[in-house]
Amino acid sequence: MSTRTLRIGLVGWRGMVGSVLMDRMAAEGDLAGAEPVFFSTSQVGQAAPDVGQGAAVLQDAHDAAAFAGLDIIVTCQGGAWTKSMYPQIRAAGWTGHWIDAASALRMADDAVIVLDPLNRHVMDEAFAAGTNTWVGGNCTVSLMLMGLGTLFQRGWVEWMTSMTYQAASGAGAKNMAELVSQMRKIGGDAAGLLDAPRTAALTLDRQVSTTLSSDGFPTANFGAPLAGSVLPWIDTLQPDGSTREELKGHVEANKILGLTPEVPIDGICVRVGAMRSHAQALTIKLTRDVPLADIEAAIADSTEWTEVITNDKAESLAKLTPAAVSGTLTIPVGRLRKLRMGPEYLTAFTVGDQLLWGAAEPIRRTLKILREHLGA
Ligand code: HSE
Repeated sequence: MSTRTLRIGLVGWRGMVGSVLMDRMAAEGDLAGAEPVFFSTSQVGQAAPDVGQGAAVLQDAHDAAAFAGLDIIVTCQGGAWTKSMYPQIRAAGWTGHWIDAASALRMADDAVIVLDPLNRHVMDEAFAAGTNTWVGGNCTVSLMLMGLGTLFQRGWVEWMTSMTYQAASGAGAKNMAELVSQMRKIGGDAAGLLDAPRTAALTLDRQVSTTLSSDGFPTANFGAPLAGSVLPWIDTLQPDGSTREELKGHVEANKILGLTPEVPIDGICVRVGAMRSHAQALTIKLTRDVPLADIEAAIADSTEWTEVITNDKAESLAKLTPAAVSGTLTIPVGRLRKLRMGPEYLTAFTVGDQLLWGAAEPIRRTLKILREHLGA
């Protein structure tokens, strides 16, 4: 039973992750019975979207005082806004619940990284202890844990490497458009050769290479061709030679699951020409020779969205690809087998929509869980 109407501030709801979040919240009725207050960094005073609360105008996302009186703030505005406004809003005395899709606050001691199908117990204990900062995890980490997190929770993992195949969406909306522009340019330049009968593959390849290295080829966002290529670098260099994306794999996964001692996770993060679903190839050193059937059963039982894909070609091509998964909440895990290195070495491949379980879904579910806790 609702006892009072919660006031929920929404920031960054118009961007790509924010739009997916708004769609999911509408589909699930997440804002029913609450009073949403929409904020903007650029269109203050214009009409706010009416999601059932009636006519209202956009509030100023740069004015800390404008957030006073809200019970919850949900932001997909990005790390720069969080870094600027979170301290100001807290300093103004605001003690409500902050739910954030950006990475800025993830590793703060007083923030919980939310992925409730795996760490609901951590969230509930933190709520009881007074935590009020909740942050969505890195997309690659959340998707890997939705697929294989149960193996860590059972104490079966000694270490893991993750070789990622990350979609353009993880780099941003402009990057998705740039990928398709690159594809168009490649296809357009090669159209005559493709349409001509009996064009040799090497002739076609020379044309594509010429296009990829041509001055007009669109690379402003990625800095290099992604279509027809792959980019083995995501985010910034760390002192140990890893990238920040690779570092997140270890620190965030361990924090989400609360693993002590930590389980080493490392690998290489690679951008590929998929649109919005990330894939990962995993090598797992097991703590003992766990039978493959037990591993498959554990994964299949772990969340209602996780699905074990039979290790055959037809099933893998039909269900274990970004093209098959995009736009869905399904997390397929396949190519499961023991490696020739020995019975304690497991390999797996998993895929997930980077904008759903990788970004919006943990955020909307956290809002729902907090509403349950707050009895409103
Ligand atoms: N950093 C991720 C990527 C997306 O570049 O794919 C956000 O978690």
